[in-house]
Amino acid sequence: MAFFKQTIIIAFCHTLVAATPFGTPVRAAIAPPASFTSNAKIGPGGITFTDSAHFRVYGATSSTANDTLNMLESAYSCFVDDLGWRSSGLGFNDDSDADGPWTKVNVYSVDALEGAAGVMHSDFDTGMAWLEVVKTYLTVPGVTVHEYGHGLTYHARTWVDQSRTGAWWETVAEWFADTYKTSSLCENGRSKFGQSTTLTEINLEKVIGDSFQVIVDGSVNSGNYYEAWPFLSYLTNNPDNFTGLGSNTIRESFAQYSKGSNETPLHAFARLSTSNSIQRVVGRYWARMAFVDIGHPTAQSVFLERRKALNYANLDSQSNSIYKVKAARQPRYMGANIIPLTKSGTAVVTAKITTGGTCTATLSVRNTSNGTTRYIDFANGSASTSITASEEAAIVVANTPSLIQYDPFSLTSDVNTGLDYTLTLSGATA
Ligand SMILES: *[C@@H]1O[C@H](CO)[C@@H](O)[C@H](O)[C@H]1NC(C)=O
Ligand SMILES: *[C@@H]1O[C@H](CO)[C@@H](O)[C@H](O)[C@H]1NC(C)=O
Ligand SMILES: *[C@@H]1O[C@H](CO)[C@@H](O)[C@H](O)[C@H]1NC(C)=O
Ligand SMILES: *[C@@H]1O[C@H](CO)[C@@H](O)[C@H](O)[C@H]1NC(C)=O
Ligand SMILES: *[C@@H]1O[C@H](CO)[C@@H](O)[C@H](O)[C@H]1NC(C)=O
Repeated sequence: MAFFKQTIIIAFCHTLVAATPFGTPVRAAIAPPASFTSNAKIGPGGITFTDSAHFRVYGATSSTANDTLNMLESAYSCFVDDLGWRSSGLGFNDDSDADGPWTKVNVYSVDALEGAAGVMHSDFDTGMAWLEVVKTYLTVPGVTVHEYGHGLTYHARTWVDQSRTGAWWETVAEWFADTYKTSSLCENGRSKFGQSTTLTEINLEKVIGDSFQVIVDGSVNSGNYYEAWPFLSYLTNNPDNFTGLGSNTIRESFAQYSKGSNETPLHAFARLSTSNSIQRVVGRYWARMAFVDIGHPTAQSVFLERRKALNYANLDSQSNSIYKVKAARQPRYMGANIIPLTKSGTAVVTAKITTGGTCTATLSVRNTSNGTTRYIDFANGSASTSITASEEAAIVVANTPSLIQYDPFSLTSDVNTGLDYTLTLSGATA
C-alpha cells in the first residue's frame, strides 16, 4: 500500500466521558429519522456539499460526491443496520442511544493532507466523527471506508483513550474496509447502493512473510498493524465454529471491552471465546494461514496465485532432519512461523518440536485437488499423519504464552522476545 492512512484520535477530553456509565437507562425508543440532521459546524463547513441520508460530502460534486455517498451508505447499511454497530449518527456523549439526536457524518474532500490519504477527527462539542480525504482517494473504499471505520470505532466509544488499543485502530479500520469490499456479510449493504465487490486489502508479503512479528505490532516502518486484520476476519468468519465467536465478534469486543481498563483487544477476544482459550484460537488462526483458509475466498485465491513469492525461510537445517528457527524469525508474542513441507514420497509425516517456551503447533494439511483441509494439533510436542499424493502439508508454530498487557506502539521484551525451538521431521523435509 503506497499511501498512508492515518487516524488522529483526539484524546484530551474523553476521560470525563469515561466516568459516564455506558449501560444507560432505557428511554422510550424513537425510530431514527430516515434522514439525519446536518451540522456545518462539524469541521470547517463550506458552501459546496451533497447530502445523503447519513452523510454529507463537502468539496466534491456530481458523480464523485454521488459515488462517495453511495459507498458510505453501503457501509452504513452493512455495519450499522445489518451488523448492529452503534450508529455514527449518535454523539459520543449521548447518554441514551434510543432517542437521538442523529447527525450526519461530514466528509471533506481536500487537495492534500500531510503524509496521509485520509484522516478521522472528532468534534468535541457534538461527539461526532468527521473525515478528511484527499480528493483523488475519495471514492476509494480502502481509504474512505477505512477512515469511516475509524469513525465507527470512535462512536463505539470503549477504545477511546485506551492507549493499548491505539495501533489496533488501524487493524480494525482495515478490517472494516476489507469486509466492506469483499465479505458476504456486506453483500446486502453493497447491493442496496449499487456497489460491487472489489479487491481484498490483504498484504501477504507482510502478514505471511513477516508472520513471526507480534500479532499486532505498531513499530514505525516495520510494524504490521495495518496488515494484521486477517486475524479479525478469521474471528468473524469463525471457520472452526468456536463457541462465542462469529460475525459479531469485532462489534462485541468493543461492547465487552472492560471499560477504562486499557486492556488489549486480545483480552476481550479471550472472554468472548467461551470454549477455547485465546492461545488455541490464535494457534488455529495461524494454522489456517498456511493456506489462507480463514473463510475469506478472495484472500485465498490471491494466496494461491502469490504463494511462490512469499518468504518462508524460517529455519536453518542443523543436521539430518533437525532444524532450528532462525534467530531473526523466531515467533514473537502471538506471532508464528509457517513452514511448508516437502514430502519424502507418500509417507507418514512425523514432526517433533523442542522448545523452552509455550507454543501452539499444528500440522496443516490441504488436498490440492479439491481444497479440503485438515489440522492436526501437536500433543506433547509432536504430531503425525499420513499425507497422500494429492495433499500438501505445513508445520505452523505459534508463540502463545499467557496474555500480556502490551502497547503495540512501544514493544517491550516480554512480547518482542522470540520463541526458540528445534523441529525434527521424518517423512518430509522443511
Ligand atoms: C447517483 O447514484 C445513483 C445510484 O447509483 C445513480 O442512480 C444516479 O444516476 C447517480 N447520479 C449521479 C448524478 O451520478
Ligand atoms: C463449521 O460449521 C459449518 C456449518 O455448519 C460446517 O460446514 C463446517 O464444516 C464446520 N467446521 C468445522 C471445522 O467444524
Ligand atoms: C475432497 O475430497 C475428500 C476426500 O475424498 C472428500 O471427503 C471431500 O468431501 C472432498 N471435498 C470437496 C469440497 O470436494
Ligand atoms: C483429494 O480430493 C480428490 C478430489 O476430490 C479425491 O479424489 C481424493 O481422494 C482426496 N484425497 C484425500 C487424501 O482426501
Ligand atoms: C501427553 O503427556 C501426558 C503426560 O505425560 C499424558 O498424560 C498424555 O496422555 C499425553 N498425550 C498424548 C496425546 O500423547
